[in-house]
Amino acid sequence: MKILYPTDGSKTAKAAIEFVVDIAKAQGGKVIVLSVAEKVGYLGVEYKEVEESLLKFARDFAHQAAEEIKSKGVEAEERVELGRPADIIVEIARKEGVDAIVMGTHGWTGLARAIIGSVADRVIRHAPCPVILVPTKIED
Ligand SMILES: Nc1ncnc2c1ncn2[C@@H]1O[C@H](COP(=O)(O)OP(=O)(O)OP(=O)(O)O)[C@@H](O)[C@H]1O
Ligand SMILES: [Mg+2]
Repeated sequence: MKILYPTDGSKTAKAAIEFVVDIAKAQGGKVIVLSVAEKVGYLGVEYKEVEESLLKFARDFAHQAAEEIKSKGVEAEERVELGRPADIIVEIARKEGVDAIVMGTHGWTGLARAIIGSVADRVIRHAPCPVILVPTKIED
């Protein structure tokens, strides 16, 4: 079983790791950890610099999560991409033929009033496979 675990490094995304590991172990699966750096512009040095720093964060988030998953005895591969997060998540799910996507209900923005975040919302509308959204407690 192939599981796609997209992470933006947020607390809610991190909270999904436990479930990712459980399901991978139960099904004998491997995990693709994906962090997407949001594309900020098309031209200009300043955009490139912002993108470079977003890519650096994305690499760190993917690496940290993959290390944590591997430390729990599950095979994990890291991927980092630049683009629109939800579209990249859906595209990779399709290309890799994953069996499931496991992600958080919220991310960095974590607006308590939104039932789910916009990336989660777009992924469930377009995903080619089942999507499992893992919540965390909302502190208000
Ligand atoms: N850039 C990203 N790369 C990989 N996964 C992401 C990215 N952004 C969000 N995710 C995944 O989507 C889940 C939901 O995050 P989402 O961005 O939808 O919520 P939010 O940040 O609270 O709201 P919004 O982004 O709409 O303001 C996260 O827990 C994470 O698993
Ligand atoms: Mg977000």
